[in-house]
Parts: sequence; structure tokens; C-alpha cells
Amino acid sequence: MINIVLFGPPGAGKGTQAARLVKRYNLFHLSTGDIFRDNKKNGTELGKLAQSFMDHGKLVPDDVTIQILIAEVDKHPEVEGFIFDGFPRTSPQAKALDEILAGRNTSISKMLALNVEEEELRKRLASRAIESGRADDANPEVIQKRIDVYNLETAPVLDFYTEQGKSSIVNGMGTMDDVTSRLFSEIDAVIV
Ligand code: AP5
Ligand code: MG
Repeated sequence: MINIVLFGPPGAGKGTQAARLVKRYNLFHLSTGDIFRDNKKNGTELGKLAQSFMDHGKLVPDDVTIQILIAEVDKHPEVEGFIFDGFPRTSPQAKALDEILAGRNTSISKMLALNVEEEELRKRLASRAIESGRADDANPEVIQKRIDVYNLETAPVLDFYTEQGKSSIVNGMGTMDDVTSRLFSEIDAVIV
């Protein structure tokens, strides 16, 4: 099994690149943001709860998010591995993920952290806002809040994986194809 954490700030290209990686490596794309948005669309209680945090650029509480992650992993026992996109975002989430995978006799193979300049993040999210319908893209203050929350609460998760010797920082600037080939090289090096 190969399990990848695709890490990076809002707008770094996690979703875009995850879609390409799952095809090449036959992995399952698990995005907590997508799960919350689906629940919001379907009007579930979880969706309503998540929306109250997401629309302000804040993190959904760890206990809720970790339970969702466990349920989603358990729904897919047949897969050859996961790409975790947008999870873990806090130290407790990173610890929980290690425990969840250990309980299933597997572990994180690699954490790939996309590095993109803040100005470029703001530009990408503002231009996506036009067609995404994402409330958290529509307001520049919420975009800034998401970037600030990333820097304060999420960026330290990089250290967690660096201490395990599993992290690589990948240049997320340039074209989507440029970034994809950098990620392919990183993952190919883990597989061989
Ligand atoms: P989430 O859905 O994870 O959003 P995010 O981290 O803010 O990131 P985005 O999805 O906006 O960006 P991305 O990195 O996927 O980039 P993308 O490929 O789309 O989380 C949303 C919210 O849910 C959080 O704020 C929080 O409230 C909650 N949440 C989720 N997970 C949570 C967790 N674990 N714990 C607690 N709360 C959680 O690209 C962005 C745009 O740029 C696109 O338009 C794309 O086409 C474009 N683009 C991509 N690559 C390039 C490139 N190389 N050049 C030019 N444009 C590019
Ligand atoms: Mg995304």
C-alpha cells in the first residue's frame, strides 16, 4: 500500500494534483474539504456544522474531522492506497492518522508539501471564485483568514513528518504540468 499526504496552503493545487496522482498510481483521493462540501450540499447536520467554520475560513474541530476521516478510510478497504488532501491540518490530526493507519497495518509513505508564494495563492483562489461557487473563495478576507490559519495551525504539521523523515517540499509554482512531474518524481522514488 502507498499512502501519500498532499499538503499545502489553500490554493496550492492539492485538489488539482491529487486528481492526476490517483490516475497514475491507482490510489483513492480522500479530501476532507470535498466531504464537508458534499455534506453541505446535501443539507446534513455535519454539513451545517462544517459550513459554520468553513465560511469563515476556520478549521472544523478535530474530533469531528477525525471521525469523518476514520469513517471514510473504513469505507474503502479494497484500495491500494490513499492520497490525503487537506488532512491532516493539525498535530492531533496527524497523530490520529498515524494511529488509524497503524490499526490497519499500514502507514504514510510520503508527505509532499506544495510550496506556493502567497500572492499566487490569492490570485488562484480569487480567479477560481468566479466559477467554483465556494463561499470561502468569494471573500478576500476569508481567503486571507484561510492563509493565516494555514500558517498558524497547519504549517507545523510539516515538522511532524520531517521528524519521521517522510516529508519533501515540492515547488508548487509554474504550470500544473510542471508541478505534476515534480510530484511524480518524488513518488516514483518512494515506490522503487
Ligand atoms: P479544503 O477544501 O481543503 O480547501 P483549502 O485547503 O483551502 O484548499 P483549496 O481546495 O482551496 O486549494 P487546493 O490546494 O486544493 O488547490 P486547487 O487544486 O483547488 O478546505 C476547505 C475548508 O474545509 C477549510 O478551510 C476548513 O474549514 C475545512 N477543512 C477541510 N479539511 C479540514 C481538516 N482536515 N480539518 C479541519 N477543517 C478542515 O487549486 C486552486 C485553484 O488554482 C484552482 O482554480 C486551480 O485550477 C488553480 N491551479 C492549480 N494549480 C495551478 C497552477 N500550477 N497554476 C495556475 N493555477 C493553478
Ligand atoms: Mg482542494
